[in-house]
Amino acid sequence: MTVTVLFAAGEALWPEYAPHLRVAFAGAGLDAALVTEATPGEVDYIVYAPGSALQDFTPYTRCRAVLNLWAGVERIVGNRTLTQPLCRMVDPGLTEGMVEYVTGHVLRHHLGMDRYIKGAPGWQQIVPPLARERVVAMLGLGELGLACARALKALNFAVEGWSRSAKTGLDIPAHHGEAGLEALLRKAEIVVTLLPRTAETENLLNARRLAWLPQGAVIVNPGRGALIDDDALLAALDSGALGHATLDVFRIEPLPEDHPFRRHPGVTVTPHIAADTRASSAARVVAENIRRGEAGEPLLHQVDLTRGY
Ligand SMILES: NC(=O)c1ccc[n+]([C@@H]2O[C@H](COP(=O)([O-])OP(=O)(O)OC[C@H]3O[C@@H](n4cnc5c(N)ncnc54)[C@H](OP(=O)(O)O)[C@@H]3O)[C@@H](O)[C@H]2O)c1
Repeated sequence: MTVTVLFAAGEALWPEYAPHLRVAFAGAGLDAALVTEATPGEVDYIVYAPGSALQDFTPYTRCRAVLNLWAGVERIVGNRTLTQPLCRMVDPGLTEGMVEYVTGHVLRHHLGMDRYIKGAPGWQQIVPPLARERVVAMLGLGELGLACARALKALNFAVEGWSRSAKTGLDIPAHHGEAGLEALLRKAEIVVTLLPRTAETENLLNARRLAWLPQGAVIVNPGRGALIDDDALLAALDSGALGHATLDVFRIEPLPEDHPFRRHPGVTVTPHIAADTRASSAARVVAENIRRGEAGEPLLHQVDLTRGY
């Protein structure tokens, strides 16, 4: 029987995604009708993105899963009309992009590249330590954090991670809990934040915890803007306690032109480009989840709505 897949991820994404989804559905052996409009009661799956016009899931009584094209789900987990299973995007292309962004920005700070790009006068020979002598804290050891941690480890960085649950048997030393966070931040010269935005992670890096970092430490945040207290970050940069912050995500996006981050010499702003979902690989993930749904197999990357990620 034909399954009806409603593309509710917005008009802007439709031209890019429609051909890839059709190819992926055929590749997964699915008999699927991909539509942008349908009678809600006849929809089997919804392909979704934050900011979609579809906000009331109540009439989608037959819908077996809502398949988000984004990794972050903070803008949909609180939707009380959502009773259908929600899956977030874990896309190999997105992960690859994040690994490149994180390793690039970590290496920039590790090697002190800015000094030479800006044209340091004279002949001051400042040789960076080896990566093995540089502790990098990876806050978040999920799909993205772990992939980035492993890439940094392959470059010899002394990477250690932190997550909500205790992890055993990982190839990266792992911490959890408040004491674990403090132990890690106290030795981390570079901190990468790849956590979801939830009630627990909001303002995680506040003034008290930022003060645990060694003098001159650097933060790279491609996770979510709300993970860091903006004012505490600016104060730590102004005092010289922090060396630099590379920020890809913000509480308000696009970041307002008059925001202090825009002109602060200690801040690099990138416009939420760390890692985009790639239509060709993401379409295969969507198709695989529909195949699973139809075969009665467990869905991939299902979000725990109570946990918030
Ligand atoms: N800038 C961009 O372009 C971009 C692109 C994609 C994603 N992102 C962001 O990256 C985030 C991470 O993505 P992902 O795919 O790696 O997510 P994920 O697989 O769900 O992993 C999340 C990680 O965060 C940890 N965590 C969650 N709440 C925590 C808490 N209260 N305390 C400590 N650790 C906590 C989890 O711990 P457990 O392992 O114990 O569950 C897990 O290790 C997304 O939520 C999104 O916000 C940004």
